Amino acid sequence: MDPDYSDEMVDHVVDFFDRVAPFYDAWAGGQHGRVASRLVDLAAPAKNEHVLDVGTGTGLVAHLVAPRVNPGMVIGIDLSENMLRIARTNGKDKNVQFVGMAAERLVFRPETFDLVTMGEALAYFADPTEALAEAHRILRPGGRLAVSCLRRSLNTRAQDLFFQGLAPLARRHYLSLPRYSSERARFGEPDVLPQILSGAGFEVGRLTEMVTGGRTSDAREWTELMAGAGPLPYTLIRALGPRYRGELEAEVEAAMASLGDPDDAFRYHHSYVLVAARKR
Ligand SMILES: C[S@@+](CC[C@H](N)C(=O)[O-])C[C@H]1O[C@@H](n2cnc3c(N)ncnc32)[C@H](O)[C@@H]1O
Repeated sequence: MDPDYSDEMVDHVVDFFDRVAPFYDAWAGGQHGRVASRLVDLAAPAKNEHVLDVGTGTGLVAHLVAPRVNPGMVIGIDLSENMLRIARTNGKDKNVQFVGMAAERLVFRPETFDLVTMGEALAYFADPTEALAEAHRILRPGGRLAVSCLRRSLNTRAQDLFFQGLAPLARRHYLSLPRYSSERARFGEPDVLPQILSGAGFEVGRLTEMVTGGRTSDAREWTELMAGAGPLPYTLIRALGPRYRGELEAEVEAAMASLGDPDDAFRYHHSYVLVAARKR
């Protein structure tokens, strides 16, 4: 089991996705959908293929894959019931199903799928190594894996400043929140993700990158956007009552001003690395 694994962390992650489920598809102007679309293009699903979408969430990837493999099947698995509920109501394709299941414990027989997709999910899994071992097990010989991962090193100075302030903020409010090790933050680097996949028995093929970004108009919009960025900012920001929320927004304003260049203030980048690989 991954040293990062703890039941508390799994609960924290699943609780976050259960809560953000209704807003997930619209977050940051529908950015998750654009990443999903790029991942599906990279994965190149073909007619008749059987596909497993691991950490399917609201099914953004699965729903794009379904018409391309029809009459092949797509199964999307996830641990968040609220995400799965939305996945089941989105889309009309009959050849896609959504099931509650852990990425680390797939119930499928070995060598049953042609393609496994993992959109923006690997870094959230309790045990990424085990999740990749399971993907490898259920893929047919020569089967494909397509993974997308947030590349955090391309965050802006404004994001870095904000995220660095979260741990002290939690301490000030006596909130002890579980966190994954900092190693996870490097999963989406172009020199790290291929290595992880290669170590899991995959031959790495194409790697592509996608960079999106923008600016929020003020501290309120900024904290709202960042609340959707992960379990830690979400839990912290939602835990603050109106008074402390106001204080946080004032601190964010001051931090943005401290950047010097007004063009840097409230600017965010969301960058992704996408990799296609094949089972060795
Ligand atoms: C950022 S969302 C990605 C959703 C979707 N794949 C996409 O591309 O938009 C990550 C998903 O992984 C799921 N997840 C986290 N840990 C999991 C695990 N151990 N097994 C299965 N799913 C998990 C979460 O519930 C969440 O829905």
